Amino acid sequence: MVRLNIRGFEIHKCFVPSEEQVLLVEALRPVLKAAPLFSPTTASGKNMSVRMTSAGSCGWVSDKNGYRYEPRHPKGRAWPPIPGEILQIWSDVTGLEREPDSCLVNYYGEGARMGMHQDRDEADFSWPVLSVSLGDDGLFRIGNTERGGKTESVWLSSGDVVVMGGPARLTYHGLDRIRFGSSRLLPKGGRLNLTLRCVT
Ligand code: SIN
Ligand code: MN
Repeated sequence: MVRLNIRGFEIHKCFVPSEEQVLLVEALRPVLKAAPLFSPTTASGKNMSVRMTSAGSCGWVSDKNGYRYEPRHPKGRAWPPIPGEILQIWSDVTGLEREPDSCLVNYYGEGARMGMHQDRDEADFSWPVLSVSLGDDGLFRIGNTERGGKTESVWLSSGDVVVMGGPARLTYHGLDRIRFGSSRLLPKGGRLNLTLRCVT
């Protein structure tokens, strides 16, 4: 297995084998049924191109009141639990006793992207953030701990896992674009990114 370290982000290429990727997508179906994807807006009212939902005791939301973690889906129901298959990846990669309390599910359809940002709405930055990519390839950009400056990009493919932790926990990152149709994992194409975090 290939492991890259780019600016402190640990990238485990092909961490999830293809048969297990299929099982992960199956495990996500009930999550998406209980907590359908929604289109968040930024505080200034701009629509984000990514659609999202969450599993766990809290989920990340963004609307006219800004971004934050909430115990419920915008429609009012509590988020469904994080599937065991996903928690297993967290424990296999991080080796931590503690489980994440939030799994953000981002869906990138054709043309979707995510601007450069830090993950900083959590209480304690000593816990890492772990991301799992499924479906189409995505061009991931890694910056610096302050906004701006030179960046480096890497294509993330289905099954790749990224750990953002240690001194890189607050490094800016974003997703420039996807190669729509590059994977056949998701029936309608596109890319899913799961982000596991310890929020509280
Ligand atoms: C994120 O930073 O929330 C998403 C990163 C990705 O889609 O790979
Ligand atoms: Mn992020």
